[in-house]
Amino acid sequence: MENDLQAIVAQAETILKTVSSRADWEQAKATILGPNGSLTQAAKGIGQLTKEERPAFGQALNQAKKKVEGFFKTSNESIEAQADLASLGEKADPSLPSVPSHLGGTHPLTNVRRRVVSIFRKIGFTVAEATEVETEWFCFDALNTPDDHPARDEQDTLFFPPNSTWANITQKAKEAHVLRTHTSSVQIRTLFKEKPPLRIIAPGRCFRRDTVDATHSANFHQTEGLYVDKNVTVKDLKAVLDYFLKELFGDKLETRLRPSFFPFTEPSFEVDLKAPNLGKLSNKWIEIMGCGMVDPEVLKLVNLDPEEWSGFAFGLGIERVAMILHGIDDIRHFYQNDQRFLSQFSNAT
Ligand code: DAH
Repeated sequence: MENDLQAIVAQAETILKTVSSRADWEQAKATILGPNGSLTQAAKGIGQLTKEERPAFGQALNQAKKKVEGFFKTSNESIEAQADLASLGEKADPSLPSVPSHLGGTHPLTNVRRRVVSIFRKIGFTVAEATEVETEWFCFDALNTPDDHPARDEQDTLFFPPNSTWANITQKAKEAHVLRTHTSSVQIRTLFKEKPPLRIIAPGRCFRRDTVDATHSANFHQTEGLYVDKNVTVKDLKAVLDYFLKELFGDKLETRLRPSFFPFTEPSFEVDLKAPNLGKLSNKWIEIMGCGMVDPEVLKLVNLDPEEWSGFAFGLGIERVAMILHGIDDIRHFYQNDQRFLSQFSNAT
């Protein structure tokens, strides 16, 4: 009978070596340890033994049981380990490159802003920033724009309710707050903080009370530029803008300055450009930006002597540049987050 037990242990060892699934394992358990299993049946044989024979058989039975249970335990662990591995899915190679079509991209307006900034950086301009909520004084008064100027009109400007307070703005008595209508206020904030000579470029978001149509938006982006030094002339202004626009639109570009009016520059100009590589707009004069020599009144306001210091300023719409560069005829495309539109620019710079 003890030989039978050894045979059962050997049988258990052999079967469990071939078991690879939970179902096979359960089947093996029934065959050996189940109510009709070989070991259970062998154990019943104790009844036919004499009193003297029983202890030795009992001991052999316990040992056999231990061994068999040990085989089942090892086999169970290996089945569980295999199931864990299977739950991780297919093997992946983390060193493979990702699929390019899943990569995101920067917004076309971000691309243009970065490009504009990098062109000016090359000639020593640094980026200046200010808040989008601005005081009426910085947005208009300080820029020589009187109370009755149409730019201040409630129809053109988004005013905050009286006495609104904003964490980042020091409120003077009765001062009105607006969403800045242009980035020109950054000129004043910079001139109060820094001494010339200075060259800054100030990209940012602006707001006007405009109904949205193909060419207007109540929210848009500008880049302001300011250059203050000694003996700065219109020639410097023209040279810097020619360099900038050629970098942006190509070497074949021509520019012209047209007399214009801005309250904070004197003289003031509109810049037009003409280039052969602009699709439908090729070889036509296109208005691109406003500019001028900083008005002496503005210099005096920030405690600079206009006899000693002079400078030029300019303001440019980011959307306008992007529309000309890419032949886009509806400004609303920029704000609709339509992947079909945006994905065309993901690699544009
Ligand atoms: N602030 C003007 C606007 O929003 C643009 C502008 C014109 C800015 C002439 C300037 C400038 O600095 O010199 O229309």
